Amino acid sequence: MADDPVLEHELEALLEREWFDVPEEFRERALISDLSEHERAAHDPVGWWEEQASALDWFEPWQHALEDEDAPFYRWFAGGRLNVSHNCLDRHVQAGLGERVAFHWHGEEGEQRRITYAQLLADVQRCANALKARGIGPGDVVGIYLPMIPEVVVAMLACARIGAPHNVVFGGFSAESVHERMAFSNASCLITSDGGRRKGRTVAVKAEVDRTMDDLTHLETILVVRHTGVDCPMRDGRDLWWDEALAAADPECPAESLDSEHPLFILYSSGSTAKPKGIQHTTGGYLTGVTWTFRNVFDLRADEDVFWCTADVGWITGHSYIVYGALANAATSVMFEGAPDYPHKGIWWELCERYGVTILYTAPTAIRTCMKWGVEHVRGFDRSALRLLGTVGEPINPKAWAWYWHVVGEGRCPVVDTWWQTETAQIMITTLPGAQRMKPGAAGTPLPGIAAKVVDGEGREVQRDVQGLLTLRQPWPGMLRGLYREPDRYLSGYWERFGAPNYFVGDAAREDRDGYFWVIGRVDDVINVSGHRMSTAEVESAIVSHPKVAEAAVIGQSDEDTGQAICAFVTLRGELDGDDSLTDEIREHVGQRIGKLARPRRVIWTGDLPKTRSGKIMRRLLKDIAEGRQLGDVTTLRDPGVVHEIAASMGDEDE
Ligand code: WT7
Repeated sequence: MADDPVLEHELEALLEREWFDVPEEFRERALISDLSEHERAAHDPVGWWEEQASALDWFEPWQHALEDEDAPFYRWFAGGRLNVSHNCLDRHVQAGLGERVAFHWHGEEGEQRRITYAQLLADVQRCANALKARGIGPGDVVGIYLPMIPEVVVAMLACARIGAPHNVVFGGFSAESVHERMAFSNASCLITSDGGRRKGRTVAVKAEVDRTMDDLTHLETILVVRHTGVDCPMRDGRDLWWDEALAAADPECPAESLDSEHPLFILYSSGSTAKPKGIQHTTGGYLTGVTWTFRNVFDLRADEDVFWCTADVGWITGHSYIVYGALANAATSVMFEGAPDYPHKGIWWELCERYGVTILYTAPTAIRTCMKWGVEHVRGFDRSALRLLGTVGEPINPKAWAWYWHVVGEGRCPVVDTWWQTETAQIMITTLPGAQRMKPGAAGTPLPGIAAKVVDGEGREVQRDVQGLLTLRQPWPGMLRGLYREPDRYLSGYWERFGAPNYFVGDAAREDRDGYFWVIGRVDDVINVSGHRMSTAEVESAIVSHPKVAEAAVIGQSDEDTGQAICAFVTLRGELDGDDSLTDEIREHVGQRIGKLARPRRVIWTGDLPKTRSGKIMRRLLKDIAEGRQLGDVTTLRDPGVVHEIAASMGDEDE
């Protein structure tokens, strides 16, 4: 980019502006163009959410909008009955929208599939019946480990149809991670594929998964989608081919009438200990939250727009905005199997042109990568259909914001910076694109029906412009309902600190004088790598499981491309010395245990780690060292010499 002085100059000029106005053409047609919804909701948040819930199809009405007697075990729309797959499919087909495209699927090698709402409904019913034929019913957990192919959506909706909570594992996680998640959640079925594709290569997924699954006695069924044709072992009695099972299944499967609080899914996410948290979401509140936010944050015109969220279905972004929020609104989306640089670095923009994408939702790390690749890849394709841009996953630096606005959106498309989490399930803080001006770097204000505050360590509200801890002050329909089989961890992780209804987010933030929230980053031992959450403890325990390692401490080091990068300080056993080949071995080992994303970018050999007198590793000091900063307070260390030794040895390394 440095070699494009004109662009550099244009971006510099944009960076001087604090505010960006809503483009007038956008405001004129926007669903919401003022703050009246914020005001109405502030007046009566629960009543306002009830109004949004009534836009869904309910089989039976709810008796209580919000039950808080057992707070923080909240219940939304208690007594109401509905079905998510009915709301995402049957409802639209009955309204005559069966021929509308739900997904334009684009495969890695350029294959295309158009999947209409009617086709999706037909496949979902067969898949639901295939699951039922294997004895799966309400409450039985179904694991899903699939690439970005339409079958992943079919599988999720089929589970929702019969009330079997799904537990999707991101395709980039390792077979061992799948095993761990299937074990924790007691899954009775796993839906996976023979193989996966990545940039022209094929990997054997099922064969790899098989290596780890033998001891899971509760796992009675593995349903296998034929995707790459790679060799795939099948075990009699347990494994079934997806296509055969669906062909043999009855074509009709009525949607189960489920309680509003029936579990819809579990999604494992990283916490501050090594064991991932099984975040639980339920039916009525979740669907209400994602349906309203999808429609209004993305200003959806369902009959015209083509929405593209570039996330993987295996993350909450995919659950809420590729699958449930999009389908509940009868939207048309693009689904892309591949990587952003295969077969070429302009593929995203080629897809925008080909499918006429109007709304693009992606992550700051992806924007920075495209920036680095250069504007020619973007400008080589027609993006005139684009009218709205969104980001999620981490704070967006103003330069990347300006580039997104100027190069991708040609100064015409509002940018919504959406702050939320796996736990919140729905977008919480952003700007409504037709109603609120944008400030690059700030996410915006809490959406209607959401209350957020920045507080100090004791829970007292701090003044405007002062950094503190972000809290959410009232329940919202999409909120997590617990951690799978770990109620105490749910209480201690989110509610004990400030007491319900004050939810502890785990992010540092500042609210400015205009009421805009600037989210700084995590305050716990969670690292944000390219918008994905990794736990320091989880990576550390993977490193320590390597036979040559005695001890490890992991920190997130600021990184231009990925936001943060994993940096590991490793002490070896006995008299062993670290070298490059051992670094590779450890990286590979972590990749095997958790997934490629978790591999440390840097491994630093240390003789000892800085610890407090009680033996707690002081990661804060390691961070100072890694980022080349002046060391913070070292007086609480058992042996202050340790940090100086590490710092000195790294000084040598740099020279
Ligand atoms: C954490 C949640 C929400 C789906 C993707 C990540 C960070 C997320 C933003 C944003 C600043 C953000 C926070 C949050 N984060 N969006 N727009 N601005 N930070 O979901 O894996 O549950 O991670 O991501 O730190 O707590 P997740």
